[in-house]
Amino acid sequence: MPDTGKTAAAREDATRPKRETMSTFPIRHAEPGDAAALHAILTSDHVVAGTMRLPHAALATTEARLAPQPDRVQLVALLDGEVAGFAEVLTQFGNPRACHAAVLNMIVTREDRCRSGVGTALLEAVLDLADNHWGLRRLGLTVWADNDTAIRLYQRFGFVEEGKHGAYVRAGPGFKDALTMARLR
Ligand SMILES: CC(C)(COP(=O)(O)OP(=O)(O)OC[C@H]1O[C@@H](n2cnc3c(N)ncnc32)[C@H](O)[C@@H]1OP(=O)(O)O)[C@@H](O)C(=O)NCCC(=O)NCCS
Repeated sequence: MPDTGKTAAAREDATRPKRETMSTFPIRHAEPGDAAALHAILTSDHVVAGTMRLPHAALATTEARLAPQPDRVQLVALLDGEVAGFAEVLTQFGNPRACHAAVLNMIVTREDRCRSGVGTALLEAVLDLADNHWGLRRLGLTVWADNDTAIRLYQRFGFVEEGKHGAYVRAGPGFKDALTMARLR
């Protein structure tokens, strides 16, 4: 290969497919009308595996989840106008001792759009709110210890492991451990 003066890393970057960015996946707050699309995502196998969700949950559970509630912020990422991902943050703005801290309660991507940047775009949007609008000091989360994709995503944005919970969630005939992670500023 001719020497172009670029480092090996720069050459590799130039040949890698361009990552889709936040602007590729417009983000807005979830609305009641998103219930059916979101329900399809929340009942899919990969989401059941990575969360506390149950298969065959009733649509009413998703409709209830989307009902506006204080201290619950829910974002959707769109692709061609359709819901491709969802993130939910639980805040505590009414509690003077804990209003600096929130929990990333869920982040999910529609199965056919996984590994295309939707989760990254949602997390970027959550962190923009956390850092630039809410002024959070702490954002925590719980993730199953075998969920390598999610753990890598969180680590890329500065979340670090805080602890491990044994046999935290039932999974098939057995149980899975969970990690708590947090990003502190
Ligand atoms: C965890 C989850 C939300 C990640 O969402 P996602 O949309 O796939 O996330 P991203 O696409 O931003 O990143 C995932 C991977 O794709 C890669 N990627 C992103 N855009 C890409 C692109 N355009 N081309 C190639 N790879 C890409 C990322 O680098 C990352 O790679 P890595 O796993 O090797 O680190 C998704 O897997 C999911 O919904 N899982 C089920 C529910 C769940 O477990 N949620 C977390 C509960 S704690």
